[in-house]
Amino acid sequence: MDSRNLREKFIKFFEGKNHKLVAPASLIPENDPSVLFTTAGMQQFKRFYTNPEEAPAKNIVTCQPCIRTSDIDNVGDETHLTFLEMLGNFSFGGYFKKEAIEWGYEFLTDELDIEPERITSTIFSGDDLNSRDDESAGILESMRLKYKEYSREDNFWGPTGDEGPCGPTVEFYIDGIEVWNLVFNEYYKEKDGSYRNLQTIGIDTGMGLERMLVALNKKNDVFQTDLFWSVIQEIERLTDLKYGSKSDIEYIKDNKQCWVDIRKKFRIIADHVRATAFISAEKIEVANTGRGYIVRRLIRRATRRSKSLGMNQPFLVELADVFIKSFSTYYPILKEEKDFIRKNLIDEEQKFQKPLDWVDQYREDLEAAQKDNIIKKIKDIPILLKPGVASGEYIYENFQTYGVPPDLSKEVAKELRLEVDQAGFDNLYKKHQEISRSASARMFKGGLVGQTEITTRMHTATHILLKALQEVLGPEVHQRGSNINEERIRFDFSYPKALTNEQVKKVESIVNEKIRENISVVKRETTVEEAKSLGAEAQFVDKYIKYGNLTMYSIGEYSHELCGGPHVKSAGEIGKFKIIKEESSSAGIRRIRAILESLSTG
Ligand code: ALA
Repeated sequence: MDSRNLREKFIKFFEGKNHKLVAPASLIPENDPSVLFTTAGMQQFKRFYTNPEEAPAKNIVTCQPCIRTSDIDNVGDETHLTFLEMLGNFSFGGYFKKEAIEWGYEFLTDELDIEPERITSTIFSGDDLNSRDDESAGILESMRLKYKEYSREDNFWGPTGDEGPCGPTVEFYIDGIEVWNLVFNEYYKEKDGSYRNLQTIGIDTGMGLERMLVALNKKNDVFQTDLFWSVIQEIERLTDLKYGSKSDIEYIKDNKQCWVDIRKKFRIIADHVRATAFISAEKIEVANTGRGYIVRRLIRRATRRSKSLGMNQPFLVELADVFIKSFSTYYPILKEEKDFIRKNLIDEEQKFQKPLDWVDQYREDLEAAQKDNIIKKIKDIPILLKPGVASGEYIYENFQTYGVPPDLSKEVAKELRLEVDQAGFDNLYKKHQEISRSASARMFKGGLVGQTEITTRMHTATHILLKALQEVLGPEVHQRGSNINEERIRFDFSYPKALTNEQVKKVESIVNEKIRENISVVKRETTVEEAKSLGAEAQFVDKYIKYGNLTMYSIGEYSHELCGGPHVKSAGEIGKFKIIKEESSSAGIRRIRAILESLSTG
């Protein structure tokens, strides 16, 4: 069975059980600043577990692309990936554990024809914070299914970010590989770490598409499924090496016998290029911070492996082309953003060639130092702090002088089984940051804007934008989503048809007018009544009421919104607001993309 087939089967099965198919969310989470990427299928539905009445349907099924950077160091083995697709069924008060477990088992055995003796399951054993999942144990027993009991680390899931719904899980394993996680969201974890019970149990499941294909097709690893195989073959063709059946391949260099784990390199390259393509398709440019830094790191890690396989630039982009071709049928955004994806890869791969030469040099120096214990290097910096420990100072020097990313130097040290003097590195790094911070503070001193973060300025701009939209289009316009990153604002709102050019221009000029008026932004605690009487916009009023967190931001008398902030102090800090696109988001929802043009520092 191939990936296409499995996606379809899963969705059909749950549609047959009264689930509504919902489109996957963007990899960049909407309204959830606590995480950089969408890491799970439930993320776009997070609020429905506390506000089930807002859900578009009681039961939902999706296929959701996810990014899990926490697994980056495990990529290279048989099952771990940074980008993966998760098939999931969800419920917000529609059904509970019994149905979720029984349907899960039915899907595995009846739909996928997996022999029952290959399937095992696990439940949450309970601890001081949350009790054992007796109910699931009872259900599994009544189905005559054997289960093991595992602790929190394995069988308690969530929340994503620092608060949210979470709960015990039942996991299905096939041939010993974990393939499906059934989460029962019984609790809400508060920011302070405490748990409260949710009113209804929510269902959140995640089946790893790649892992399930391994089980179904009895492959050795996820890279041998149809999702990756064409790319693995392309790497074989371009490098003239074989992915092979053994993980270690022997070769002779300088009369020495060497061993290289070719398969591991192939896997890292393939995974990282695929993740890069999907993140880049969200218009995330390579950068030194945030999401852009993740892209940079993925490309650099892949570049390093490809160089060690003897490949020169451009290499990764050719693999991206293969992914774009095979994934575009299901994810057309890849085809639409093909140029952007290619540019990210080509530029960064090229930029990284020089620092990579230094990495090779560093590795050789380290190896030599390891042999002779301590040797002195440039500017008297020891390369080893003491035997067995790579010096933080030298890693910092690599970074400052040659642009070698610290992560990479550390990786090299670890490959040589050295410890890293992290404290030494941190000290120097902190000092450097302080110096550059005060330098930029000086730069802005006397300027117009101070150092307000661009995202904060954008956030305030969205409040004014909503009000301006209501002024131009009517009071029935409401915010339906907002997503801000350092490059742009993306703002979704309810409105039945496309805006005319005049309307777009009008909205833009109202926003800029308010910015020019430099109205003050005031934050204060308020009551529901007052907020309502001022006509305050609140996206999820109920949520705010429930948590007693009634903070209102007012921009003069123009806009009032219940919101957690942060915001600028006065509208003038925002800078010039520019709408770059108005488009459809989904039925009845329009989307505006806007940017802030750079500020004059007067
Ligand atoms: N949210 C659960 C997971 O990601 C299903 O494993």
